Formats: sequence, C-alpha cells, structure tokens
Amino acid sequence: MSRTRINHVLQTSEPGSIVNVRGWVRTRRDSKQGFSFVELYDGSCFSGLQIVVDANVPGYEHIKEVTTGASLSVTGEVKASQGAKQRVELLAQKLELLGKADAETYPLQKKQHSFEFLREIAHLRPRTNTFGAIARVRNAASAAIHEFFQERGFNYVQTPIITTSDCEGAGQMFSVTTMDLHKLAKSGGEVDFNQDFFGKHASLTVSGQLEAEIFACSVGDCYTFGPTFRAENSNTTRHLAEFWMVEPEMPFYDLDDNMALAEAFIKHVVGRIMERRADDMQFFNERIDTTVIATLRNILDHEFIRLSYTEAIEILEKSGQKWEYPIAWGGDLQSEHERFLTEQHFKQPVILFNYPRTLKPFYMRCNEDGKTVRAMDVLVPRVGEIIGGSQREERLDVLELRMKECGLNPADYWWYVDLRRYGTVPHAGFGLGFERLIQLVTGMVNIRDCIPFHRVPKSADF
Ligand code: 4AD
Ligand code: MG
Repeated sequence: MSRTRINHVLQTSEPGSIVNVRGWVRTRRDSKQGFSFVELYDGSCFSGLQIVVDANVPGYEHIKEVTTGASLSVTGEVKASQGAKQRVELLAQKLELLGKADAETYPLQKKQHSFEFLREIAHLRPRTNTFGAIARVRNAASAAIHEFFQERGFNYVQTPIITTSDCEGAGQMFSVTTMDLHKLAKSGGEVDFNQDFFGKHASLTVSGQLEAEIFACSVGDCYTFGPTFRAENSNTTRHLAEFWMVEPEMPFYDLDDNMALAEAFIKHVVGRIMERRADDMQFFNERIDTTVIATLRNILDHEFIRLSYTEAIEILEKSGQKWEYPIAWGGDLQSEHERFLTEQHFKQPVILFNYPRTLKPFYMRCNEDGKTVRAMDVLVPRVGEIIGGSQREERLDVLELRMKECGLNPADYWWYVDLRRYGTVPHAGFGLGFERLIQLVTGMVNIRDCIPFHRVPKSADF
C-alpha cells in the first residue's frame, strides 16, 4: 500500500478510508485497558497524527520498542476524532517497527532543549517542532521567491561560486586552492598563484551581482538565488559565513524602481508564507515570539518609509538615545541605529537611500552632490538590514574613477567595465539575505538557527 503523508490524512482523508502512514514517533502513551496512543510525525505539516493501537493489532508485540524517535509504518482506518484538537485520528490495523531508537541515548527528549544544545545535534534537530517548522518555512519562502520573479518574467541565472573578483570589496573572502598549504609555492616571498589550479588567486563568491549584471544587460530582468560566503569574524546573531542571497538585477531601472520592487518582493514572500504555512506561523507566534504575526501584518499593511541617509542621521542625532556607537554623518549605521529607526521611530520597515560613497562599494551610481551614491538598504524590525542594493554606475569614466578610488584595477574587471563600453544602460538591483528573511518571519533570535547547517567562526560541522 502506498504511503499517505500525514498532512493529507489530517486535512482531507475521509473517515472510513484505509491509509498507510510512515514517520517517526513523537510520543507513546499506554492505557491501562491494553491499548496505546502513538503520535507519529512525518514532517509534512506541524502536527503529528494520533494513532490508536489495540493490543490485538499485528505488530503490537513490539510496542515497548515504539519509543520517541523510532520509525514506524502503520496501516489503519481513518476515524473522526473525539478530541477537539484534530479532525481525524487513525485506528491501527497493522504496525511495523522500521527502526528502533534507543531510549537511553536518543538525545531528543520530550522536555524543551536549548537552541544552543540543538545546534550540537543539527542532524536530529529538524525532528523537533521548531526546526521542522523552520525547514517548511524556508521551503515556502524559496518557492514564493521564485514565483515572484517568474510571474514577472525574470530569468533565473546561476552565477559562479568560485570567483576571482571581490564584488563587495570588503576583503572577506575565503580562498579556494589546490596548493599544498604546507609547501606553498612562492615567488619572491609572495605566494605564486600562477601555480595554483586556476592560475590566479581564487575565492568563494561574496555575491553573484557582477555576473547577474551581465545577464541583465543582455536577456533583461534576472535574478540569482544561491550560496554566498563571507569570512567576517563577527560572532553576531545576524551573520553567517555561508548564507543564501537572492539578487535581482534590472536594466532600465532607477533607484525608485528598485525600491518599489524590493517592497513588493518582501510583501509577496511574507504574504505567501503566512498563507501557506499558517500552522507553523501559529507555532512561532505562540512559542518563539508573540509579536511575530503582528509584525508581519504590519509589514503587509503599510507602505515602507523611504528616507535618505542624511535624514536618518538627523533623526538619530535628535533621538536623545544613548548609543554604543556614536552617530555622525559619514559613519556606518550599526544594528542599534537601524533597529531604532524601524522598531521605535517609524515602527515599520524603512528604506534608507543615498549613503555616503565612502561607505559603499565601487559599483554604486554616484550622485551629483559628489558625496553620496544611489544605495538603498531595507531595514525591518528585529533584524535591521535585510536588503542591500543600489542603482549601478553605468557611466564608463565615473566607474573607472570609482574603481581606482576603491583600490581596484579596472583592468582586472575588464569584462564588467565592457558592459559600460558597449551599449550601457541605467540599471539597478539588490540582494536579500535569505536567512535574515527567515529570522524576520519566524521570530528566531539567532540566524544560526535559520539555516539547516550553520557555518560561523570555529564551526562547520555536519
Ligand atoms: O548589503 P550586501 O553586502 O549587498 C550585496 O552583496 C550586493 N551585491 C547585493 C546586490 O546589490 N545585488 O548584502 C545583501 C544582504 C544584506 O542586506 C543581508 O541581508 C545579507 O545579504 N547579508 C548577510 N546575511 C547573513 N550573514 C552575513 N554575513 C551577511 N552579509 C550580508
Ligand atoms: Mg549591506
């Protein structure tokens, strides 16, 4: 008999029908009358299925081994449930123990475990309520992201993971080499990358943007959605060394068009997750952060505030707050400043634009004032910056000047510069940090819990 997923049984199976379900035991309770209740979970939805197993059911002889974490296949009849919790339950006709789970050593006990502990058993944590819900929300978010762009005719472009350019110019790249680190090939005291696999110093990419621009300037609106890597040694709740980024890039867009798309994008994805993962969202709202649904509703129902960096600095200066990092025009905004603007001052998402050019990478379009560039950051409550983007510098001469100013040699980026030489167009794009989006929607405090297997300083297990 083919397997039916538990979400299907709970939502649509008719009482009286016979189904087979398979999954892992959450709990078992034995009654004095000689039957048992088993809650079986298969990951298809938040709830497990309640199964009633009578003592005369074939397989009942193994009931003592049906412990938390064991895997089962159960065939039975769908029954209208007596309790108010679920529409239906299953009356077992046959039970097969597929894999035992030693109750003495199985690490997931019924009690609540700390997230720190669960990070150490990341191979088992997706079986918990919280991490099962996060996995489903991540999936729903990915689908909604593709859907948003596909509906608008964007092309999904796969950009390289190994690269020889540093898009963000922040020098946070992981090297990729086949050289023997114990016997490094040197030439004149320097490592001789001519002898390396690629004949050049190669790294893991920090962004797919530069390559996405190539496709935007040929096949039109496009987006990337892939892993990116940053060796920032910051042990914060918002940084990962490996994270996923969504980077749309649009020809003939200016900064206003870019902001409008970013806002529509966040609203679309948040709305779809709330619709499609209502069960998981209810759990997050009850157990992780009791304001999370209200925060998301607020995001859906209001227009994002748009504000220049300069105006933001004025607000922060006048706020009367005590800052850990002092505020001054020209300085980078820290998480405390971003969160003040979006959580306390405006109480909704804020798009900041026109940042000082000294704070931003070479590719952003310079404004006429000579001081600022057409950058935009989208800030949301609890997370701060969730999107960073800009209108791109499409003027060849200005781009070359900016590259030199940022310490880059335009010749190393000749292909990128060529886009300005042959049929240049105004264009813009942005990058959304996928795990920060998951933080926003789930209410989880630490970004390490928003990716299946986190990579951070001193941790790359699993
Ligand atoms: O602001 P960032 O650095 O922008 C770019 O990389 C551009 N190339 C994007 C573009 O215009 N195509 O990064 C974009 C977003 C941030 O807003 C943040 O959400 C996320 O990526 N991000 C991180 N997420 C987790 N861990 C880190 N270490 C992150 N660094 C950036
Ligand atoms: Mg940024």
